[in-house]
Amino acid sequence: MTDGYRPAVFAHRGGADALPEHTLGAYLRALDEGADGVECDVRLTRDGHLVCVHDSKLERTSDGRGRVSTKTLAELDALNFGSWHPGYPADAALPDLSRLLTLERLLDTLRSSGRQVKLLIETKHPSRYGAEVERRLIAMLRHHGLADPKPDDDVQITVMSFAALALRRVRAQAPNLPTVYLMEMAAPGVSRGRLPFGARTAGPGVELIRAKPALLPAIRAAGHRTYVWTVNEPEDLELVLEHRVDGVITDRPRFVLDQLDRL
Ligand code: G3P
Ligand code: CA
Repeated sequence: MTDGYRPAVFAHRGGADALPEHTLGAYLRALDEGADGVECDVRLTRDGHLVCVHDSKLERTSDGRGRVSTKTLAELDALNFGSWHPGYPADAALPDLSRLLTLERLLDTLRSSGRQVKLLIETKHPSRYGAEVERRLIAMLRHHGLADPKPDDDVQITVMSFAALALRRVRAQAPNLPTVYLMEMAAPGVSRGRLPFGARTAGPGVELIRAKPALLPAIRAAGHRTYVWTVNEPEDLELVLEHRVDGVITDRPRFVLDQLDRL
């Protein structure tokens, strides 16, 4: 754009349209394509490991059955997380497109990418896990020296949640870590520009932006940033660019980056 506006582009679940979501292969492709950052959902295994899986159950994205939280890391590691997806090549022997991804492995990969990358980590279901997801997440980030962000960090971490409770836990343990308050609907306070527990970025779904055109202006007027999900269609991208959002979270990073290059 002529005035220099350009939102950050985040590959949602690694770029879930073209390749199996939350696989290392998807994340590597998104980095190659030039995404500014990536998004991942985290859950806890029975033996306390943070793994990158969206659904509480295994059936949609793997050849396993049952709940992620009832399996050990070793049990999950034996499953195929890629073959369900139409973008999984028939002859794929690539573990990067079929293997469970741990948050530790994703972090290590991003750290060795040779460039600065933004990582949006969404913690799922704080009530099921108690405070364990956030506690283990912050401990891992602290171990990597990323819990107290600095401008030259190779991976710039932001934690996101639909649950204010999760944001409160993050703030209590890592007060300087940026957080995003995700929303499918707008609570009255948010409609007046107030975000919970120190969140400085609002993360509404694109349908919410369409349904409530006054929401983003109110949030921006309060000085907050805006990351919108999941922006996959041309009309969605047009809408969020009109609103001058700060971040676009998309299953189709290549498409969004190409469109931005044309502006
Ligand atoms: O980036 C936010 C978005 O991922 C929230 O929805 O269901 O895809 O985790 P979901
Ligand atoms: Ca998510």
